[in-house]
Amino acid sequence: MIVLGIETSCDETSAAIVKNGRYVLSNIVASSIKQHKKYQGIIPEIASRAHIESISAVVEEALREASKKNSDIDLICATSEPGLIGSLLVGISFAKALSFALQKPMLEVNHLHAHLYANLLSANSRRQLKPPFIGLVVSGGHTCLFYVSKKFDFNLLGTTTDDAAGEAFDKVAKILNAGYPGGPVIEKMALKGNTQETKFSCKGHNGLNFSFSGIKTAVLYKTKELSTGHKSQITSHKKKNIAAAFQKAVVDTLIEKSLLACRIYKIKTLVVGGGVSANNCLRRRLTDEGKLNNIKVYFPELKLSLDNAAMIAGLGYQLYKKRGGER
Ligand code: KG4
Ligand code: ZN
Repeated sequence: MIVLGIETSCDETSAAIVKNGRYVLSNIVASSIKQHKKYQGIIPEIASRAHIESISAVVEEALREASKKNSDIDLICATSEPGLIGSLLVGISFAKALSFALQKPMLEVNHLHAHLYANLLSANSRRQLKPPFIGLVVSGGHTCLFYVSKKFDFNLLGTTTDDAAGEAFDKVAKILNAGYPGGPVIEKMALKGNTQETKFSCKGHNGLNFSFSGIKTAVLYKTKELSTGHKSQITSHKKKNIAAAFQKAVVDTLIEKSLLACRIYKIKTLVVGGGVSANNCLRRRLTDEGKLNNIKVYFPELKLSLDNAAMIAGLGYQLYKKRGGER
């Protein structure tokens, strides 16, 4: 079965062709990130205009790269939530129009659930990975733990009560004047910093919920405290130490809560997805902690960690099958 996936929840316009929910034949991503950089955050109006401008070309490119024609498409899937409403509307409207024109079924897919499904498309894990598993989604807008059943039901176990992990990376990068998006730049700075000089924590929530707003404020106060001179500046060395300590605290809490969820639900498989899952410190430390606790931890291939349409097409295929193929 050939599925066309469309993803437009934030700043990436993406279209993909996936075969039988497993094999990515193409996965085209066009990003408007350059237009948002100067604002150090996503501007919804700019994002939705960029989707309108590029969606037709991105879908055509996905078909061309997969050597498929419109008539080869069996199912069309598009992200329905969560995301920027104007951006989502572009993808959903395009998918509905195409579904009507081609007389092919169309299915709406949840973006967070799809981030976990990205692991089932990844070359290193698609053969052995099967639900049930615990899923940790760490993206720019969400931090959630799910219990994913054998039949791909996603049960929410915990979520952030304020900022998301990715959002905290972005805001800390802004405080340190390091650029946007914050995740990759903080990760790079942290490599050259040490975690001994400053300590942060994301404590404050027992159970499976998260909180990342307190640490952002702690970073702000620490940066002010360490700033010196009449221009009140902080040295690049101290910035790197703050980045390292911040990243450590975020990774500590992600590890603690996801292993707790595995323990509570007696599950030995943990699957991670979303933009922050590209972070190498998280990848290395969670994998090591998993081994110590006899839990197998999966991360998606790097290109499937960030927003993409292949994960939408892949999960859409499973949900369509589950429904018995009806519209
Ligand atoms: O899943 P995603 O691409 O978009 C949303 O659904 O939000 O995630 C974007 C988030 C941003 O906050 C970005 O700073 C973060 O993922 N991110 C990272 C890294 N790469 C991207 N965070 C930490 N380390 C990274 N290497
Ligand atoms: Zn995402």
